[in-house]
Amino acid sequence: MDAEHGLARPAIPSSFEALLEAEPQVLESKRVFQGEVLSRRVKSKHLTFCTLQVQSDEQDEHVALCFAAALVDESQVPSPTRRNDLPVGLQIEVEVVRAPRFRPEFLVRRWRRAPDGGSPVVETGAHGVSMARCLALKDQVNRRAKALLGGDGLALCKRWSGCAAGSCSEACEFRHYFQSAEEETKARHARCARERSQRLQAQEQEEYGEGPHEKVDKARRAARFAAWLVKTYGREVLSSGRGVLDVAGGQGDLSWQLSVEYGIPCTLIDPMVRRGGELKSWQRRALRKRGREQAFEHLPVTFELNTSSRWTWRTRRDGAGM
Ligand SMILES: C[S@@+](CC[C@H](N)C(=O)[O-])C[C@H]1O[C@@H](n2cnc3c(N)ncnc32)[C@H](O)[C@@H]1O
Repeated sequence: MDAEHGLARPAIPSSFEALLEAEPQVLESKRVFQGEVLSRRVKSKHLTFCTLQVQSDEQDEHVALCFAAALVDESQVPSPTRRNDLPVGLQIEVEVVRAPRFRPEFLVRRWRRAPDGGSPVVETGAHGVSMARCLALKDQVNRRAKALLGGDGLALCKRWSGCAAGSCSEACEFRHYFQSAEEETKARHARCARERSQRLQAQEQEEYGEGPHEKVDKARRAARFAAWLVKTYGREVLSSGRGVLDVAGGQGDLSWQLSVEYGIPCTLIDPMVRRGGELKSWQRRALRKRGREQAFEHLPVTFELNTSSRWTWRTRRDGAGM
């Protein structure tokens, strides 16, 4: 939408030639900028936005760029498709045109790394690239860019801080230091919770005799999970009230197991309706054999937090809730 006039903008033309046809005077707006990438947002393989800090004689200015792959002359450098194609701190040279009818940003026609600049260089010691040095350098570049943009700082790297499993890659652009003692404590708690959950998972795997990579097939997984729920909580607890709410339960494999195999009432909440709401033929047979008409109730709605942070469900047409 055009914020100023409240009008919807037409889609970006499918080629530069189409743009020229729609806006014949566009070439008159051609400009060349050289500057440093302060931020970029890769929306898709075809669309990337970037804020460039351009040094001019009078003052530094921020220029908003739009890389629409259809308009970029890709004979030399293709339009960026990944964040790493346009790292923060990179010096680039861009040739742009302006077509405010389509986009408020400058539209990139050609671009390349600036001949006299590049991404920050990381020294390679005798043992290769130093990860710590690389991360520190990235932090420095990112912090500077955020400061120039007036932002309030980078998000903490979840892997580095232990909140998420695994180690971060050299390309990681999140923060690798704690901003406060509170942040460090919070990260420590999150790490402990994650480790606890991993230990529990390992115990369960031991109990059920399966290695981490020996997943049973999908149909049997629901049966195993149902058995575990019954063993852990008991039928009585699971059947209390209206029974089990199977949120985002997909086609209802778990609801089927609990309700048909264990007689526990279940309500499946999932907006997707499979096979037009029909059961599979073996399920119809199984119900017939048991003299039942229905296995479980299915509410084809989404489950979400409402504005007062209470869980609620919503129909596709924003209808009834809990
Ligand atoms: C991977 S499938 C679920 C698979 C299922 N839990 C199982 O193990 O068989 C994810 C499901 O989540 C549902 N879903 C996503 N967002 C949801 C929401 N906000 N409320 C309810 N269901 C949602 C989708 O429709 C989809 O069927």
